[in-house]
Amino acid sequence: MAEFGYFALGKYHTEDRATENENHVHVKSEEETIEHILKHEKSAAAILCQLKTQHVDQVSNLQWTKDVVGIVATLGKVDDDRSILQLPSAYLGLETMLAVVCKTHEGVKALEAYDKHGSINRSSGLHGLGYSIGRPVEGPFLVFCLQSLRSLTGLCSILSSCGQGKYREMCEKRVLIVGGTGYLGQHLLQSFAEIQQTSPCTLAFTYHTTPPPQPLLRAIPHAVPFQVDLCTGDGLHAVTQTLGQPDVVVNCAALSVPRACEMDPAAAMSINIPTALIKWLSSFSGKNTLLIHLSTDQVYEGIKSFYKEEDETVPVNVYGKSKVTAEQFVCANCSNFAILRSSIIYGPQTISPVPKSLPIQWMDSVLAKGEPLDFFHDEFRCPVYVKDLVTVIRTLTDRWIAEGNQMQLLLNVGGPDRVSRFQMAEAVAHARNYNTSLITPVSASSVDRGVKSPADISMDITKLIQMLHISPISYAKGVRLTLDAEASS
Ligand SMILES: NC(=O)c1ccc[n+]([C@@H]2O[C@H](COP(=O)([O-])OP(=O)(O)OC[C@H]3O[C@@H](n4cnc5c(N)ncnc54)[C@H](OP(=O)(O)O)[C@@H]3O)[C@@H](O)[C@H]2O)c1
Repeated sequence: MAEFGYFALGKYHTEDRATENENHVHVKSEEETIEHILKHEKSAAAILCQLKTQHVDQVSNLQWTKDVVGIVATLGKVDDDRSILQLPSAYLGLETMLAVVCKTHEGVKALEAYDKHGSINRSSGLHGLGYSIGRPVEGPFLVFCLQSLRSLTGLCSILSSCGQGKYREMCEKRVLIVGGTGYLGQHLLQSFAEIQQTSPCTLAFTYHTTPPPQPLLRAIPHAVPFQVDLCTGDGLHAVTQTLGQPDVVVNCAALSVPRACEMDPAAAMSINIPTALIKWLSSFSGKNTLLIHLSTDQVYEGIKSFYKEEDETVPVNVYGKSKVTAEQFVCANCSNFAILRSSIIYGPQTISPVPKSLPIQWMDSVLAKGEPLDFFHDEFRCPVYVKDLVTVIRTLTDRWIAEGNQMQLLLNVGGPDRVSRFQMAEAVAHARNYNTSLITPVSASSVDRGVKSPADISMDITKLIQMLHISPISYAKGVRLTLDAEASS
């Protein structure tokens, strides 16, 4: 059993699945939907339907049955001549359509009890009731719990509110943000959540060590969280069962601190090269998923200015090496991908603060103390405002969903300005009216940071601008926006 109320008690047997023809039968009323469900004779869904329609007295005395909201297929009836059972069964799968929906964990537990050896107690819960009406439950079944699977409520509401015309569009957008609790991941989730009204999609995300905090969950009420370990692939099966094949996967998960990678190269390789993720994507029969994979400017050696995508990659540290290998792995194993070589990402803090210091906020806090400070004058980057990077990802997503043309893209994603770390700090000081004479330019070679850092990895972003028609904002403007956002939060 996975967390967040997703209870995978198992799967229907193959012979229980509807035939192609069944999926196309037009069902005009709830009664007919139930009739359709009843055909799956010994399924939990059919037994519950029979109990609730024909044995009202018997079940009304049982507290736990009140916890059962219904069967997914009966919860989202649309107002035309098409039943939810036929339209989304192709999308959600019959197994999900016949899933039982409970309000609470207690309700889920009451459906099926186990003895001390772990075997099902067939005299209690749904099994007991099934026997009492001569319809014992056969095979495992799926149960969704609304108590903490917040987004299933969202999914149900999407299903129940959509009409025939919009349905296809909605169903085609299933977006999975891997590493959704990180800095970029949270900004992405927020952005996708903000457009739910105008451009709804089924949104899911993964976390690894830290469960998504409440403020984040409140801000993205329709997003489904999954605990996934990219090193092993643990947790991806639960994604398949609930979400199915995503249309777009954005991989933001990484060991993204170069010094941490240097200290633990094995971990860096195992997290940053998405072997398990891509193996999982290959398990779907269709090649209909776009993988948007986050890479870094640190794939470049740093010995010239304005690197182009076709320039040779010569990483100087473990982080860069892991990212180059990841890029190669993505290219070799994915049919559709967009690799984004991002520069330093800066911008406002996330809904739920991430446990690492953010560049602008950090410079602001140290400069605010009014003490002299050293910054490198010979390390150049093209920092990108986080919302520009989000726009890039959203544009790629929309393009893929709308056109579906094969995509094999490698893009530098940076801001328009090549700035040294000294200039980065200076811009913050200007925006805040701090005394800039406190900032001293020093050479990067004067400090041992425990990891080799490329000197100039400024990037040429012509391809980004031409292909996506996106012009990232200037560093000075991004700094002001970031500081304004901090002031108003
Ligand atoms: N931030 C930058 O300035 C920058 C610059 C260039 C490129 N990038 C790249 O952009 C991407 C996003 O960066 P970010 O700063 O948003 O990253 P981040 O804040 O460090 O977030 C990393 C995410 O990865 C997850 N994660 C870590 N180990 C995992 C594992 N074993 N399995 C599954 N998930 C795991 C984390 O989950 P838990 O917290 O739950 O463990 C977290 O959600 C990364 O690929 C990074 O390399 C970032």
